[in-house]
Amino acid sequence: MPIVRREPAPVIPVTRGTVFVAGGQPSITYIDRQHLNVEYSLQQALNVPNQIVSLAGPSKSGKTVLCRKVMQDAPHIWIEGGQIERGTDIWDKICYVLNYPVEVQKKSKDEGKAGISVGVAEFLKFEGSLLNGSESARTYKIDTMAQAIRHLREENIVLIIDDFHYLPETVRKSFLRNIKGPVFDGLKLVLLSVTHRGLDAVKAELELQGRVYSVVVPEWNPVDLTKIPQRGFHALNVQCPSGVAHRLTQECQQSPFLMQKLCWEISAGIGVDTRSEKPVPIANSYDLVPIFQRLSKDFGHPTYQKLEIGPQSRKTRIQKKLRFGGTADIYKAVLMAIAATGPAATITYDELRAKLSDVLIDTIPRKQEVTNALKLLAAISRDIGDDAGIDWDSEERKVDISDPYLRFYLRWQVRSQFESTVGGTLSQRLMGDLRN
Ligand SMILES: Nc1ncnc2c1ncn2[C@@H]1O[C@H](COP(=O)(O)OP(=O)(O)OP(=O)(O)O)[C@@H](O)[C@H]1O
Ligand SMILES: [Mg+2]
Repeated sequence: MPIVRREPAPVIPVTRGTVFVAGGQPSITYIDRQHLNVEYSLQQALNVPNQIVSLAGPSKSGKTVLCRKVMQDAPHIWIEGGQIERGTDIWDKICYVLNYPVEVQKKSKDEGKAGISVGVAEFLKFEGSLLNGSESARTYKIDTMAQAIRHLREENIVLIIDDFHYLPETVRKSFLRNIKGPVFDGLKLVLLSVTHRGLDAVKAELELQGRVYSVVVPEWNPVDLTKIPQRGFHALNVQCPSGVAHRLTQECQQSPFLMQKLCWEISAGIGVDTRSEKPVPIANSYDLVPIFQRLSKDFGHPTYQKLEIGPQSRKTRIQKKLRFGGTADIYKAVLMAIAATGPAATITYDELRAKLSDVLIDTIPRKQEVTNALKLLAAISRDIGDDAGIDWDSEERKVDISDPYLRFYLRWQVRSQFESTVGGTLSQRLMGDLRN
């Protein structure tokens, strides 16, 4: 959680790793999506006084990258929500960055006064908490919240909490209660979180009604995604045929992260580490499938595995016969049907049912059986975390799979298995492999 002040931008060497940055902050391949006013919207929100800025968007859509880009020249403190367990952690961390002690030990009024550093003396004055002469050695815990808020406001430092949804619920609520007043008095606060069912969770907090300025990171469109290979390969002096760029765009599940990762893999595959003097071509026929298969195994597997096992239950599950050979219980059959849709990010119940009849030989399970399975799969997903796994919206009767990693896994480890079946028969061995 660095505090950032103005510094000259470093000169970046052009290498595979600095061009295609998957999981970090890209610069050469940073796409500003100006036509969607992405940066401008966040900038505008920051200019609105006395409001909490909520920056929300789908999982891996570029929330962190956008915020870092917009804030790069403004003094700020960055806190990772995933590192916060207790309410005081946020304030302790801010004090740590600002160089304020969290506690101070003093022996007597006079000694204490003499021994303390400037920062502490300032604090003690602020708190009016000097020892009286008769007291012996004691350790005093400093009110880090008051200290941190005072400093942030005085120095106009923006407080950013990334992955705010990772904070335990009680911590989240008490933080918001405590921060309302200081924000009203001028403290700048930005909270980054994933949208759930398209809803901005921070805005939905009743406690904050009317006090949140919400910015939503839009979904990525194919034209913007294609700019990543175009710019990156150009920088490396690699000639990427439009067919290859198009295929990457089709397969990256609308995720700039996956696009960066795929491009990095191709560069490695053709042996390009740094910008080449002579243009290096990628063959039109370059086989991308092995890359898709290898990467998909890494990305979506942990989530898929939990979903495939289904809920804990002592009951023996009925195994249904699959059209491609082998059998599957209702949970696995539903996951296969989801995969068979593409998978699409949103699937209606009717589309899912139609795919179930493609996947199963046996009669399709009753409506209630399917919706129950979807409910339980959604419950498992909720336990895994926001925006992971699948979501079942029983009112709209649709399934949402917002996690691009899971979609990539379903596409390349599940759908491709039954698509590649020779003569339409998926062997028992292949079905077994789906579990590994
Ligand atoms: N504007 C962009 N231009 C190019 N690549 C981007 C852009 N935004 C994001 N990416 C790519 O996607 C990756 C993930 O972005 P980021 O970490 O910002 O997503 P996020 O929405 O914060 O994800 P999470 O939901 O996990 O917090 C980046 O490391 C980068 O590879
Ligand atoms: Mg993030």
